[in-house]
Amino acid sequence: MSVIRFGVSLEDHVMHELDEYVKENKFPNRSQAIRNLIEKNSVEKKWQCNNEVAGAIVIVYDHHKNDVSNKSNDIQHDYFHLILSAQHIHLSHDLCLETIAVKGEAQQLTELADKIIALKGVRHGKLVMSRAD
Ligand code: NI
Repeated sequence: MSVIRFGVSLEDHVMHELDEYVKENKFPNRSQAIRNLIEKNSVEKKWQCNNEVAGAIVIVYDHHKNDVSNKSNDIQHDYFHLILSAQHIHLSHDLCLETIAVKGEAQQLTELADKIIALKGVRHGKLVMSRAD
């Protein structure tokens, strides 16, 4: 495998972010960090396929704001055939944690997760998947 060098132009703040990423992940240099980001991206792309996968969508939101509970519920009913279970935990007076266990085609799970995570008011959201075939 040959290694190719190339120049990258980045704005100050983006470079700062990259350096933070290097520090947080204890990469020996920026090249390693960029390599890691590219690999991550291509793994995520592989999920845009028809493989049977299982996983979980996790979201944290403030239930007083933006009617997230109801909207998330509506979306989940549209995709009921992919949902194995949903757990709602009241984290505090304001915050809720929802874990939705899912199974189906990677592409469809990604579509479902994107819709829920994109809801206004969701503070944090993530889909975790693993091959299930
Ligand atoms: Ni709650």
